Amino acid sequence: MKKTVILFLFVLVLIFPFKGFSQEPDYLWDYQYDVPYVPTPHEVVQEMLKMAKVGKNDYLYDLGCGDGRIVITAVKDTGCRGVGIDIDPQRIEESKNNAAEAGVTDKVKFLQQDLFEADFSKATVLTLYLLQTVNLELRPKILRVLKPGTRVVSHDFSMKDWEADKRTEVKLERRSHSIYFWIVPANVSGTWNWISSKASGKDQYVLKLEQQFQKIKGTLYINGSGLSIARGELVGDKLQFTVGRMLEGQTVRMLFSAKVKGNSIQGSLRTETDTAMKTSKWEAKRDPYTVVPIEGSDKLR
Ligand SMILES: C[S@@+](CC[C@H](N)C(=O)[O-])C[C@H]1O[C@@H](n2cnc3c(N)ncnc32)[C@H](O)[C@@H]1O
Repeated sequence: MKKTVILFLFVLVLIFPFKGFSQEPDYLWDYQYDVPYVPTPHEVVQEMLKMAKVGKNDYLYDLGCGDGRIVITAVKDTGCRGVGIDIDPQRIEESKNNAAEAGVTDKVKFLQQDLFEADFSKATVLTLYLLQTVNLELRPKILRVLKPGTRVVSHDFSMKDWEADKRTEVKLERRSHSIYFWIVPANVSGTWNWISSKASGKDQYVLKLEQQFQKIKGTLYINGSGLSIARGELVGDKLQFTVGRMLEGQTVRMLFSAKVKGNSIQGSLRTETDTAMKTSKWEAKRDPYTVVPIEGSDKLR
């Protein structure tokens, strides 16, 4: 993998010459771990924290924390708690010294660990400045261990086909820095069942959902008749979609919104016709055998 990484960095330097990689070759060529040490400029750190809306109740983890600047800035600026993980003992030493200097030792932890083995499941915000290859290797674990709704921010490197929910650029003197932002989606794939009672009897609902990262599509069967879902949206554990159907000569629009927790879902349904609107509750259970892991999240390094 090292050869690929070096080739990739070389191409990157040609395209984006900048201080970290181009003028400090000892960082670049002498690195012995998965990623060389290149610190994130402070302006970019600020933007990453802003994008993730870090607040005092957050638990921020920086994987490959370098001198600890992302964790320390987050704690100082927002009052959150933070953990920095780096494999290099020198970086951990620097991080601890910087935290002491900033007066935040009570709210931070710096651990010398391999990020592929570290437990970061408690994170509510995860920050990364790694490499494309490392992001992709880490992606299955991110999707598997982090709680739905956890925010993930990456400096410069994307997650390929897990498209970012947001992306921004910070233009500095030497180059422009990309920042990518994702919200970890719940796994809503599979078959959900529920029964709805009405005056004239009962309706049987079966919802079949397919998912690729935060994107969903599927079909809702009402008493066996299939309707494609539209405007499907999944943000963390919040699911929304609509279906339209003709009933007794009228167009009926059904807007479902719900919260997913494991194999249960609970939410509200707004039913609209041209002349009336009503709101009701719905609650469904998923057949656990129908769940498909979010792409790649079953594979681990
Ligand atoms: C590009 S630097 C980012 C530093 C810091 N996050 C920042 O943005 O300023 C990447 C860091 O990852 C660390 N690193 C490389 N491979 C690692 C691994 N397998 N586990 C943990 N840390 C690693 C390096 O020591 C380096 O400090």
